[in-house]
Amino acid sequence: MIRIHALTKRFGVGRDELTAVDRLSFTVAPGEAYGLLGPNGAGKTTTLRMVLGLLAADDGFAEVAGFRTSDTPDEVKRRIGFVSASAGVYPWLTPREVLLYFADLYEVPPRRARERAESVASLFRLEPFLHQRCATLSTGQRQRLNLARALIHDPPVMLLDEPTRGLDVIGSQIIVDYMRHVCAEGKAVILTTHRLDEAQRLCHRFGLLHHGRLVQEGTLTELRAATGCDGLVDMFMKLAGIPDPLANGSA
Ligand SMILES: Nc1ncnc2c1ncn2[C@@H]1O[C@H](COP(=O)(O)OP(=O)(O)O)[C@@H](O)[C@H]1O
Ligand SMILES: [Mg+2]
Repeated sequence: MIRIHALTKRFGVGRDELTAVDRLSFTVAPGEAYGLLGPNGAGKTTTLRMVLGLLAADDGFAEVAGFRTSDTPDEVKRRIGFVSASAGVYPWLTPREVLLYFADLYEVPPRRARERAESVASLFRLEPFLHQRCATLSTGQRQRLNLARALIHDPPVMLLDEPTRGLDVIGSQIIVDYMRHVCAEGKAVILTTHRLDEAQRLCHRFGLLHHGRLVQEGTLTELRAATGCDGLVDMFMKLAGIPDPLANGSA
């Protein structure tokens, strides 16, 4: 469903040149949640922006349902639901208006848009505040609206960029339920986060990104076998060559 091949992005020129994403390749199947993990600056957001077509790749390509972002950007965009921690809010609109507005952006026919709005509003329990201005919503209510909004056009692919950033435990549980729901619907999902511990319970397969490069990939079982480490945090430290601060004699 999602295919990324040798995807590369460089920023800056000359001595300031930085390869933010370096020949990145991986695939995500329908119903699968792929965790693209790495510290701040690893290249996660840059990767998603290239898949979405917001940023042109310097090399390689991304494909969604067989459509290449560089060749058919509109075909790709309409097949993706995008959730970002920094998603804008529309203080003067009501959640219902936001849902219908996004349905319109995605060219969902009006009747179908109303059906989808009702369906996602029910799924994410937006009904009690569906007609309130967004300015009056709590953080949790806004987050549920953002998650619902990304599904309004029923896309086969979901990209979630640090969706748990700034959330408390209850907020994070909503993401857990959301991931289960979209995977059960057969969507292919990429979730990025720098919180490796949290990713463990959200995704089926993981790619560990370090300085724009995929340093290891697999299910938790595969990664454990390959690295001899138990958790994602330890694996990452080992693969990135970061010495364990608690180990003796490393200084
Ligand atoms: N528009 C840009 N211009 C220059 N450098 C950028 C730009 N966007 C991202 N970068 C750099 O690319 C690297 C990867 O950034 P990003 O993809 O945002 O990382 P992540 O999302 O994993 O935290 C960082 O070093 C960042 O500073
Ligand atoms: Mg980022």
